Amino acid sequence: MVATVEPTKILEPKRIPLITNYPSFRKWNKEAVKDKMEDQPMSIYVHIPFCTQRCSFCYYKTLDMKEYRPEVESYVDTLCQEIEMATDYFDIGNRPIHAVYFGGGTPSLLVEHQFEKIVAALRKKFKHFDSKEQFSLEAEPLTVSRSKMETLAQLGVTRLSMGVQSFVDEIIKLSGRGHDEKQAYRAIDIAQEAGQGQWNINIDLLSGLAGETDETWRESLECALKTGVESITVYKMEAFANTEVFKLGVKDEKLNLPSDEQEMQFMAYAMERFERANYKPWSFFTYTKNGCDESKYISSAWRGMDFYGFGVSAFGSLGDHLLQNTSELENYSEIVGSGEIPITRGYRYTSFDRMVREVLMGMKLLRLDLKGFKNRHGLRLEKLCAPILRELKAEGFVTVSDQAIDLTSKGILYGDYVSKTLSDSLQDMYR
Ligand SMILES: C[S@@+](CC[C@H](N)C(=O)[O-])C[C@H]1O[C@@H](n2cnc3c(N)ncnc32)[C@H](O)[C@@H]1O
Ligand code: SF4
Repeated sequence: MVATVEPTKILEPKRIPLITNYPSFRKWNKEAVKDKMEDQPMSIYVHIPFCTQRCSFCYYKTLDMKEYRPEVESYVDTLCQEIEMATDYFDIGNRPIHAVYFGGGTPSLLVEHQFEKIVAALRKKFKHFDSKEQFSLEAEPLTVSRSKMETLAQLGVTRLSMGVQSFVDEIIKLSGRGHDEKQAYRAIDIAQEAGQGQWNINIDLLSGLAGETDETWRESLECALKTGVESITVYKMEAFANTEVFKLGVKDEKLNLPSDEQEMQFMAYAMERFERANYKPWSFFTYTKNGCDESKYISSAWRGMDFYGFGVSAFGSLGDHLLQNTSELENYSEIVGSGEIPITRGYRYTSFDRMVREVLMGMKLLRLDLKGFKNRHGLRLEKLCAPILRELKAEGFVTVSDQAIDLTSKGILYGDYVSKTLSDSLQDMYR
């Protein structure tokens, strides 16, 4: 005879007090008032889309000065008009400013009075513009001059990021850039002199450029270290479909591109060499020395802080929304000229997106704060992703404590793989 088991009773209907709110008023407190959006710091991004050249590896949508030089002045005016309108429209002019970032394209190709115009427009609309913690600007060697650097120093730039990519002439030439090793040194010298005591300099290098060998890569790293700059960033060159490198190197196989394995070796060597030279990583890509600050704009955006992007194709993140301006120059000028905000697409985050984003982008900063994650999302990441975390730990990619998940050196080298694996495991739970 089979025994019958009484099912466990789940429902026990009864009268309970009226639910008036959630979370209950008992959980509300005075401190939370300070979290009002208008008091929250945010950053500002300004996009300059023009370049003096079209590099063979570059995937950004840029506009070549050979064709667009006459447009630059009117672009700056339109940008200032957008700053005026969008700041009012989103009511962001009273918010504390964390970091300001001029990116591109090549912001350093603007001339003195154009920098002044843009900074004046920002200063006029953002009440706390002068209290920002950092002001970064991207530069390219051929566009650097003493007078421009002096103007930028006067305007308060505190971090100059110079795209060098390689110090070896034959590799630079293959990448379609107009400068050579000497001109890169010259630009860095001028910038170091003009910004002494005022700014830190970062150099961007690219690992995986066409024609790169162990010898040329090592030479490039030694040259970068010799300059004494406070910060060096090494990006892994991605051969996106819209690049010349993709066409000639991947599709037609006419350019000799390093293999993925070689590229990993370049990165591994760079990490080891930087460590010997006392440069410490603050992200997958950037190494700094002597306590030099990280890029506060980039790190705060990866941590989820609000930022607003001005200029053609610029994007921002305000509250629960991602917002992007039109990426067509003519359209941008027309929309702003007619008194409208040039945003043409956006995205509204779900709370789940925020969790995934925090894992994917936050991990780039080498450490995921588990307590912060729990405070922000109400969930314990280390429990949600326990099996995959055990594996990542066993393979030597991460260490895990009550406080945080930290990347090891191996984890930094495979950083994107680690963060993607972790975020995939989070997403799998809800698929
Ligand atoms: C927008 S550019 C600004 C610097 C400036 N335009 C220059 O090239 O000197 C920022 C950086 O993006 C990086 N970059 C461009 N194309 C890339 C690619 N295909 N893969 C990875 N990084 C890339 C380069 O290292 C470049 O310095
Ligand atoms: S790498 Fe820099 S200079 Fe070259 S096309 Fe891209 S943004 Fe312009």
